Amino acid sequence: MFDEKAFIQEAVKELKKVEGKAVVAVSGGVDSSVVAKLGSMALGDRMVAIYVDTGFMRKNEGEKVKEFFKKMGINFRYVDAKDEFYEALKGVVDPEEKRKIIGEKFIRIFEREAMKEGATHLLQGTIAPDWIESGGGLRDTIKSHHNVGGLPSDIKLNVVEPLRDLYKDEVRKVARALKLEVAEKQPFPGPGLAVRILGEATPEKVEIVREACAIVEEEIENAIKEGKMTKPWQYFAVMLPIKSVGVHGDRRAYGYTIAVRSVESVDAMTADFSKIPHEVLEKISTRITNEIKEVNRVVYDITHKPPGTVEWE
Ligand code: XMP
Repeated sequence: MFDEKAFIQEAVKELKKVEGKAVVAVSGGVDSSVVAKLGSMALGDRMVAIYVDTGFMRKNEGEKVKEFFKKMGINFRYVDAKDEFYEALKGVVDPEEKRKIIGEKFIRIFEREAMKEGATHLLQGTIAPDWIESGGGLRDTIKSHHNVGGLPSDIKLNVVEPLRDLYKDEVRKVARALKLEVAEKQPFPGPGLAVRILGEATPEKVEIVREACAIVEEEIENAIKEGKMTKPWQYFAVMLPIKSVGVHGDRRAYGYTIAVRSVESVDAMTADFSKIPHEVLEKISTRITNEIKEVNRVVYDITHKPPGTVEWE
């Protein structure tokens, strides 16, 4: 049985061994928020939480994260790196290449910011499925998870991963024990919306998928509040690289397709697609096609993992 209180004690004790200053990469998600909280318990002002805006974050995420850290009294810095990421991904379509470029860029920006802080250590929210699926041990690489596969070998910071052996449900238990309001938040991949745009992740496509993700979240959360369904493990939108013919009013439309993905899981190693009520899917589809003019078709992904993965890239 996993004992979250014992884990917290042990993790703080271990983190206290960090000498000098540490930076922690925060994204607003459960994993990095837990690491930041544990880090601040151990190191106090010797730790700075840095939020890198990659340009691939969810709607209003930056403001929410800023507020959250301010409330907890943890040192916080916002870094706007949108243009750098968009530039680096220009013309890149291969999913693994995208992940590697984002991971590398991310860590380089971190190094730069860490140097400004005089930091020597980087605290990371890597959890067990991240490195297992990235080919840790003797396994095949399924995907290079951003916070694992993208790390360059000459990184100048000492990487500390306090959650390395934990599964997501255990991280949530720790988050609840630490009274973090993000404890129940759905997972979000490190490379963000970039892996929810199949093919090249242009700023225009990011806007489309960001809006579509927000609609999926809003409608599913409304349906949960109204008792129409239970909270899925994860629910979001994916933008496909194909256009199809449709009709808007009495005009021919040639627009993009959005796939809605929602899954039930315990640890993300396997997952079942959610049996969402049709009326909820209908609302999502109507809103997406009404509110995003570039989209004229919405489909629902009915694939389990395996053989699919949760994210499409
Ligand atoms: P897949 O798509 O591999 O996703 O079935 C399993 C879970 O991991 C999340 N995911 C990531 N998390 N960095 C992360 O921290 C990543 O690069 C990454 N890629 C996928 C995904 O959202 C799902 O919860």
